[in-house]
Parts: sequence; C-alpha cells; structure tokens
Amino acid sequence: DFRPVILAGGSGTRFWPRSRRARAKQVLALDGERSMLQQTVERLSPIAGNEKVWVITNELLAAEIESQLPGVPRSQIVEEPVARNTAPACGLAAFLVEKSNPDAVIGVFPSDHVIGDEPRFLKIIQRGVQLAASGDVMVVLGIEPTRAETGYGYIETGDSGPADLDDSALRVRRFTEKPSRNRAEEFVAAGNYFWNSGMFLWSARTLANAVREHLPEMAPLLEEIASCYGTPEFEQVFAKLYPKCENISVDYAILEPRSAKGEHYSRLYCIPAEFGWNDLGSWESLYEYQVETRSRGDEEGNVAETSGLMTLDSVDNYIYSPKKFVALVGVQDLVVVETEDALLISHRKHSQDVGKIVKELAATG
Ligand code: GDD
Ligand code: MG
Repeated sequence: DFRPVILAGGSGTRFWPRSRRARAKQVLALDGERSMLQQTVERLSPIAGNEKVWVITNELLAAEIESQLPGVPRSQIVEEPVARNTAPACGLAAFLVEKSNPDAVIGVFPSDHVIGDEPRFLKIIQRGVQLAASGDVMVVLGIEPTRAETGYGYIETGDSGPADLDDSALRVRRFTEKPSRNRAEEFVAAGNYFWNSGMFLWSARTLANAVREHLPEMAPLLEEIASCYGTPEFEQVFAKLYPKCENISVDYAILEPRSAKGEHYSRLYCIPAEFGWNDLGSWESLYEYQVETRSRGDEEGNVAETSGLMTLDSVDNYIYSPKKFVALVGVQDLVVVETEDALLISHRKHSQDVGKIVKELAATG
C-alpha cells in the first residue's frame, strides 16, 4: 500500500512574475505543457493510481490543484489554513494515513522537481518502498552533488544497508541541512555525501512515531486534527490547531536530530538516485536545465517562449513572452519574463534575487 504525499504549499517566489500567490510555481507549466505538480503525479501513476495520492497545499492553490488533478479525491487535497513548512505537513499526512493503515508506505514528494529518466525513477522508488515496508526505517533519496550548493541538505553515507535487500541502500551517518559554504565544499570533496532530494519513504507508523518523538508538542495537535478528518468539525479544528504548530522543515525537525543519534538508532538509509534530478529554483536554473537537456534553446543559447523570435548578436538569454514577437539586439545573459500585468528584466546571474522583489512588493502591498 503506497501513498504518495505531494508537498505543494510552497510559494516559489523566485519565479515571479509568472508565479503569484494563487499561481505558485508548482501549478505552472514551466517546462513542457503540464504543470510541475501534474508531472509529479503522472510520473508516479504506474505504481500509485491517483486515488492513492494526497496533496498537502494551501487554500489559495487548492482550487487550481483540484482542476489540474481530476483523479485525486477532493478529500485528499488538504488545505493548510496557514503555512508551517514541511514538518507539520508531513506529520499531518502521517497521522491521516496511519489511521487507515499504519503499514502503508508514505512517499513524500516535493512538487517542484524535474526528473530526467522516469523508468529509472520508478525502479528506485519501488526499491525504496520495499525497504521502507521491511521495517522501522526511513529512506531518503540522495543525489550525487555537483557543486557546493548551500540551499540543500547533505547526507553523509557509510556502509551498505541490509544485505537481504541488495546493496543499493547506504546507511546514513549524518544529515546536515543547508550547511555553510565551507562545510558544503568539504562535503562535496569528501565523496561519500549526497544531496537530499527532498524525497522520503517511510511507513505511516514510522513517520508518525518520529513526529511523536522529535516534535512532542506538535504531535498531539496533529493527532487531534487527524482524528477530526472527515467530520463536520474538521475545518474548524484544523484552523484552530494548525497555526499552533511550530514552523519548521522536516529536515531540521526530524532528519538532522535523528541522524545525530547514530546510525544504529536512526535507521536512516540513503538510496543514491541517478535519474537526472533538477530542483528548478530560479529562472537561471530553469534556463540551465533547458539548455542542458536541449529541450529548448537555439544555437546562440537563447531559450525563448515567444510567438516569434529574431536575434542579432544576442546570446544566452531566457525570454518568456508567449503572445509577442520578440527581437533581441546585442544583449546577453538576460531574463525577460512578461505576463499580463508585469514585466521582469533581470540579469541571469541575479535571478536568485527575484524573490527579494516579491518580498518587498508584499511588504508594501
Ligand atoms: N504543504 C506545504 N506547506 N508544502 C510546503 C510548505 C508548507 O508550508 N513549505 C514548503 N512546501 C513544499 C514546497 O512546495 C516544496 O515542494 C517542498 O515542500 C520543499 O520545500 P522548499 O521550501 O522548496 O524546501 P528547500 O528547497 O528549502 O529544501 C528542501 O529541498 C531540498 C531539495 O530541493 C530540503 O528538503 C533540502 O534538504 C533539500 O536538499
Ligand atoms: Mg526547494
């Protein structure tokens, strides 16, 4: 019994102006025709039908998500009254699923990743589900690091895992969320570290117990919310108790402290996931991904979604203006994104900072 839990409550502000509060990046079709969220669910469909899927999101996105995922039962699209980061979102999913089947394996999936090799992805997930179902273990999918990225979690791995399962799973020695630049450089140089993909597999019971252990104040709140699920009081209880949950990610709240207790106790495993993973975090990373995979982009390295394009002495630009004919003359490394009511012009290398504009805009109303 495998239940994908898709986390879709983030805001993705760095994709402004295409992303807005009610149109966050996971519901946008940034790469291809389908939204990131739809691709996430469809990718899993050979092993988990839509009726198995849970989506944890917020009130602003729920209607859009419902229309994008018609096969997912409405009752399994959970609308958080406030965002409290991923620990309460994962914890609530664990208590909800535990009620019907504590042995069900929950797969946590962020909704903003692209995966290159889908058959391989499915194989690795199946192996992970098998491992997670075999006992009280937590499985993290790890990505081989290619740079000293400080925005990710790092997994220090040791020996192979349980011999009866094959040697694809490694024991986790230590999990470090978002290290400093220096430590990230050490980790990458060491060779036995992986990036945390943000994809986890664990039984509902194991995750629920981990929440009880590591988040003793949050657990009873979530359990009470879960116990009202499906009753007329649910919304009211959810709105009252969820804001009381600590605002913290599952990485800081559970994985880091658990791994610090030692391999034997933590029973954390990492499955190296070589399936072409990319966390599309900014216009720059979308640009790079599309150039790398050659899914878009001309000889001059211009990636454009426009009704027409003419370039002269212009290289390495990202342009989104689907209804307009665009001409580029003597420009390089730009991001230009046009929507109905806003226009972004940024240097590609500064596209990480677009989120700051959004914060500023939100603050000034
Ligand atoms: N429902 C819900 N509620 N979902 C949320 C919330 C929330 O309050 N906050 C974030 N999410 C969703 C996001 O939409 C995304 O799909 C996922 O949870 C991860 O959140 P991010 O905010 O993108 O986390 P991060 O990028 O800083 O770090 C995580 O992902 C990295 C890999 O992409 C960590 O798990 C890192 O360790 C990891 O390396
Ligand atoms: Mg992220």
